Amino acid sequence: MYRTHTCGELRIANASQTVTLAGWVQTVRKFGSITFVDLRDRYGITQLLFNEALNTQLDANPLGREFVLQATGTVNERSNKNANIPTGDIEIAVTSFKILNKSEVPPFTIQDDTDGGDELRMKYRYLDLRRNAVKKNLELRYAVGRSTRNYMHENGFMDIETPFLIKSTPEGARDFVVPSRMNGGQFYALPQSPQTFKQLLMVSGYDRYYQIVKCFRDEDLRADRQPEFTQIDCEMCFVEQEDILNMFEGLIKRIFKDVKGIDYTDAVERMSWEEAMWQFGNDKPDIRFGMQLCNLKFPAHTFTTKPSISDLIAGEFAVFNDAETVIAIAVPGCSEYTRKQTDELTEWVKRPQIGMKGLVFIKCNTDGTYKSSVDKFYSEDKLKAIADAAGAKAGDLVLILAGTEERTRKATSELRLEMGKRLGLRKENEFKLLWVLDFPLFEFALEDQDGGGAGRWVARHHPFTSPKPSDVDIMINNSPKVEDLDKYLEHPYATIKANAYDMVLNGNEIGGGSIRIYQKELQQKMFAALGMTEEEANHKFGFLLGAFEYGAPPHGGLAFGFDRLCSILGGSESIRDFIAFPKNNSGRDVMLDAPSAIDDKQLKELQIQLAPTTKA
Ligand code: AMO
Repeated sequence: MYRTHTCGELRIANASQTVTLAGWVQTVRKFGSITFVDLRDRYGITQLLFNEALNTQLDANPLGREFVLQATGTVNERSNKNANIPTGDIEIAVTSFKILNKSEVPPFTIQDDTDGGDELRMKYRYLDLRRNAVKKNLELRYAVGRSTRNYMHENGFMDIETPFLIKSTPEGARDFVVPSRMNGGQFYALPQSPQTFKQLLMVSGYDRYYQIVKCFRDEDLRADRQPEFTQIDCEMCFVEQEDILNMFEGLIKRIFKDVKGIDYTDAVERMSWEEAMWQFGNDKPDIRFGMQLCNLKFPAHTFTTKPSISDLIAGEFAVFNDAETVIAIAVPGCSEYTRKQTDELTEWVKRPQIGMKGLVFIKCNTDGTYKSSVDKFYSEDKLKAIADAAGAKAGDLVLILAGTEERTRKATSELRLEMGKRLGLRKENEFKLLWVLDFPLFEFALEDQDGGGAGRWVARHHPFTSPKPSDVDIMINNSPKVEDLDKYLEHPYATIKANAYDMVLNGNEIGGGSIRIYQKELQQKMFAALGMTEEEANHKFGFLLGAFEYGAPPHGGLAFGFDRLCSILGGSESIRDFIAFPKNNSGRDVMLDAPSAIDDKQLKELQIQLAPTTKA
């Protein structure tokens, strides 16, 4: 037997027992005739005490960091206790030991605040995984998975696996492809999600499906994106949107409870996509704080139901007059910002990532006066009226951006988030869920993925999402053709809303889904709207159209980003920290050194010839 206990288990109640532990050497501290060793395993750290006689043996067989050691001895109460660890009251007076394996000196220290940089830790990920901080993340991930499985099981969902070697499932990214040796010159695609399979399972009558499943997307990576990531993928039939929202806010609340001990009793807020864009400039707003956008000016066709208040900024100021959109936010308590601080904010909005030309501010002084960078153009009364519209109070700082609609809205949203962060309003331990509903069904892409094309409609979510019943006729009765590319927003298709919903947690999209199209004709119409010929549609999705001929039930579902959910619950911006073996920002596994070239024999078998420039 290698061990009787783990390194995290022994307490004062075990005193005088004889035990055997096995683990990794964390530290070795020698004090003359005795040596202390901290022994670590998955469960914790226990101090070992080597007396004089054993110390002599250790001199002959020195222990280094990360050696694998087995030690037997007696549990003793420690004279100098360590309150920081659960085993800190005891130590093991070692009577015999065995070095099970040696270790090279690790390239970084295995402790919470490690000295290893990102790339080094990824190269030696198996060592990084020994660190407590990483282990805690994986434990959290496991807990989220377990909680999910329990909830899904209790609610009658069946876990069904779907294949990885498939034909393209479009989710808006590029596919990873796998060449087929047995079918020379042909390729599988790895699934961007199990979307079409779960719909087929509904056709087959498995009315509640789920899977915690890998998805593969070849897209530009960010902190919250990996080329292979995991979804909690779900689908139900004979349901309406309301059923799905209820079922899955139940899941997230259950995860909060099981994993974080949080009773999320509040109803999950709901907001239409249009309202989210109007109030926050963003389809995944962080609603932990206010600072809503004040839309001083906007193009009439963008928010048709909203009243115009552009009179407020009418005047001689050319920047506002020429801008398509002018948006303000009221930043609480910042009226006393110095010139240096407002200059810094101006530089911040001018950074290429934000892309604005400048920043206008109004200081709402506590003495009731108003001071602004556009004093020249607006009377104090006017400044007050603008500040009031933005919801500013005495002591607040109003920040105003002006420019084209899309950019200005996005920039104001970024500025709001930045100010929220700077003011400590985005609290790590506060969790706020939000459903964003009624997304537009289509987006207009002026260029396709490869930069070509004269513009076409693309599915905002994916091509299987149904339009709102009230908007189906707009889709059926209008041609997708856009005559004037500059005015695509005025095309009827731009107004069609989808039966789609996203779940947002603290400003992150953690999940999304929709009620699906289940009638063959409507699905065909959808493919046509996306610019597919009938032939193309049959070639790509004939199996689904075929299935819809055999009694497809009304159905809908959603998928949560499992890694994302874990990282937010764990308080980290990066999903990588919650994946055992992640890829770096270039999509490389630096430990495996993948992707890598394959040899000529393999290429030949696959009937693949590389272009000369790519040959390794
Ligand atoms: P969607 O594409 O919105 O929907 O994906 C669902 C959720 O998956 C997460 N996610 C990612 N996480 C990490 N890395 C990525 N590259 C990545 N891409 C997406 C997000 C997102 O909300 N089949 C549909 C779901 C449905 O309609 O049922 C789908 O995949 O958190």
